[in-house]
Amino acid sequence: MTSFALTRTLPEDAGQEALRTDVLHGLTRMPKTLPPKWFYDAHGSELFEEITELPEYYPTRAEREILLGRAAEIAAATGARTLIELGSGSSDKTRHLLDALTGLDLYVPVDVSESALRGAAQALHRTHPGLAVHALIADFTAPLALPPVPGPRLVAFLGGTIGNLLPGERAEFLAAVRAMLAPGDFFLLGTDLVKDASVLVPAYDDAAGVTARFNKNVLAVLNRELGADFDPDTFAHVAVWDEENEWIEMRLRSAVAQTVKVPALDLAVDFAAGEELRTEVSAKFRQAGVRAETRAAGLEPTHWWTDSEGRFALSLSTVPEQAR
Ligand code: SAH
Ligand code: AVI
Repeated sequence: MTSFALTRTLPEDAGQEALRTDVLHGLTRMPKTLPPKWFYDAHGSELFEEITELPEYYPTRAEREILLGRAAEIAAATGARTLIELGSGSSDKTRHLLDALTGLDLYVPVDVSESALRGAAQALHRTHPGLAVHALIADFTAPLALPPVPGPRLVAFLGGTIGNLLPGERAEFLAAVRAMLAPGDFFLLGTDLVKDASVLVPAYDDAAGVTARFNKNVLAVLNRELGADFDPDTFAHVAVWDEENEWIEMRLRSAVAQTVKVPALDLAVDFAAGEELRTEVSAKFRQAGVRAETRAAGLEPTHWWTDSEGRFALSLSTVPEQAR
């Protein structure tokens, strides 16, 4: 029998409080921004899964290819007894790791999306009967209180989600991962790689318009949770490649001059016609940068694998024994 436990690491209304703080901060500054974690209510999590199947969105397929080819190597290198996955979503690709990690005692998926965690647990119950799963509803950008778990521990952060953090947030995040780990533990990181804009832009602006719906879903979240009156039809989905920062930026562009009310914050937000609200960055990486950032956090890179077309990379790093 699969054993399943779900722990909410924060009180149920903490999410609401964090949303209010983020919206107040993000919509009263110039340029306006919102953090991408608010995409992922139940509908947003479903839309993300739809994105992973789009012909233009290559990262999921590329990372799956690497996981399929390298899972046995990862298992041999780490000997992990606990797999902790941050931003685990549907845990779909993770199944390839779970298949290979034969000495695993416990899988700890961590996500802000309760619906994604519950869906993943149901699927794992079918594919991996016998696996102990302790899911955590938590924000991986905040300090993470892990239950005591057996080592060696492997923390996985897949999908290229690290690219959705800004550079300063990335450094803080990697330092927090390092702080969670002990010597002999491992960190497996998925990073999308820099490539031509002709491939990158369509991956974030697909012909079927699924990414546009995903982007606009954040407005529906604000309407539902804060009583806001955003009309998603008055905003256009925009995806641009920022050459200098080497990231894709998703924005919502107001087609008209308008004032949006956010009653829960007693706030009225003016948008000029053509004004853009940044909803996500998705940074793309190079090997040297990933090595430098992981090293700066006190992790020692040991492996670097890419898919056959060199689009995406998985890298493994460890806490050196002498760091004790
Ligand atoms: N790892 C999966 C899902 C990637 S989508 C894959 O590779 O396909 C990004 C996931 O991270 C979503 O499930 C989302 O709910 C979660 N997420 C985003 N921001 C988060 C945060 N700050 N804390 C915890 N989970 C977060
Ligand atoms: C979750 N994350 C890695 C996705 C990405 O590619 O940055 C989110 C996404 N945004 C638009 N499409 C997918």
